[in-house]
Amino acid sequence: METARSIHHVGLAVDDLDGALETYATLFGATLEHRSRVEEQGVDAASIRVGESRLELLGALGEDTPVGRFLATRGPGMHHVAYEVDDIRAALADLVDAGAQLIDETPRRGIFGLEVAFVHPDSVHGVLSEVVASA
Ligand code: CO
Repeated sequence: METARSIHHVGLAVDDLDGALETYATLFGATLEHRSRVEEQGVDAASIRVGESRLELLGALGEDTPVGRFLATRGPGMHHVAYEVDDIRAALADLVDAGAQLIDETPRRGIFGLEVAFVHPDSVHGVLSEVVASA
């Protein structure tokens, strides 16, 4: 089993990215790491650091996008948990062997350029989960 090294980030769906960035800076001293608008994924996203930890804030570029649909049905809040692994292909093979349902059978390029793959929430007690290759 490819053991996760750490939690890489927690992803949060937000209805106001600028407002959320201000809130996290004010309340928790978060600092901006990256900000990226990715048209093909329909997201306006930011990664922020809180000490050594990281949050990924996900705003929707439209209602008919994955994050837009999430916001419409669930509202703003926790979206996914991402685990950092050394070998993402080995991790995906192990997840399949363990019976997990993958959303991404093979790694793809994530919002901030890292290789990522998502695991279906039905396999993780309702939590959409992501594996991220160590940079
Ligand atoms: Co993520």
